[in-house]
Amino acid sequence: MRILSGIQTTGNLHLGNYLGAIKQWVAMQDQGECLFFLADLHSLTGSMTPAERASTTIEMAATLLAAGIDERSIMFNQARVPAHSELCWILQGTARMGWLNRMTQWKDKAGKNRDGAPVGLFTYPVLQAADILAYKATHVPVGEDQKQHLELTRDIAEKFNTDYGVDLFPLPEPLISKAAPRIMSLRDGGAKMSKSDPSDMSRINLIDSDDLIAQKFRKARTDPDPLPDSFDALAERAEARNLVTIYAALADVTPQAVVDQFAGQGFGAFKPALADLAVAKLAPIRDRLTRLLDDRAAVGAELAKGAARATEMAAPTLRAAQQAVGLQI
Ligand code: TRP
Repeated sequence: MRILSGIQTTGNLHLGNYLGAIKQWVAMQDQGECLFFLADLHSLTGSMTPAERASTTIEMAATLLAAGIDERSIMFNQARVPAHSELCWILQGTARMGWLNRMTQWKDKAGKNRDGAPVGLFTYPVLQAADILAYKATHVPVGEDQKQHLELTRDIAEKFNTDYGVDLFPLPEPLISKAAPRIMSLRDGGAKMSKSDPSDMSRINLIDSDDLIAQKFRKARTDPDPLPDSFDALAERAEARNLVTIYAALADVTPQAVVDQFAGQGFGAFKPALADLAVAKLAPIRDRLTRLLDDRAAVGAELAKGAARATEMAAPTLRAAQQAVGLQI
């Protein structure tokens, strides 16, 4: 199993980012050879400033290290490994306009103003295919929203192999984690926890102090009813459901196990238990993160080390792709 995934860089990571993706990645290090990268090249299709791009890359890398990504994995930023861009260009000869035109993310992000959209937004999934195929990754942990890009990667890999009569690229499988919960805002159970929510009380940031974490859970919106004995009974109680989901994800148990434990109790009892658990799990990550953010050069050095390993790993595949299409390199 060769596992690879990329993540968009953002600043101010929160509990939703941690439980939704990062924690899954940390656990996967036991399951196979892992490559994790920061998609800084992909970020050129968005509206980040250069300063933000540089700082969020380091902050995201520091967060991954703080959360437990270690030497078992190869962690790097995409831009430091030229094979991604080089293979992307080759694969642009294979990908078809019609395929990319069907991508829902392209349609959503370009909106009505397609003429004004960056070309890179359209070819974004081809770079994603190159990310994956450069390492012959077999498994790609992604969210539900990236399934279509994975299908496209398989189509590109298959067409390349067929067109050039090679058996170069394996067809990667998406790993859609059932353990990856959707974490909602602490103020509104109908909205995703988000760094762009104007209320800081809506989210637990990974850099929040113990007191702030406790305060945010104490003030989280809930309802006056006690917890039921079945998780399904929380279907119409979005805020309550969210807190139970968070507890379960932090404790590595099922949401049903959480309601089994707290059935009949109100939020006056549940919230302090949740706050204690969150502090116990998040404080060590925050402390490591704070130290790493004080030594950004060291984080940069980790990325450079990862990039060197990644470059070496991608080299034979890039070379084989160049040879397959007849490029004299
Ligand atoms: N597009 C992915 C996202 O938005 C990030 C990404 C870029 C990625 N390249 C990848 C994910 C390769 C998996 C594999 O989440």
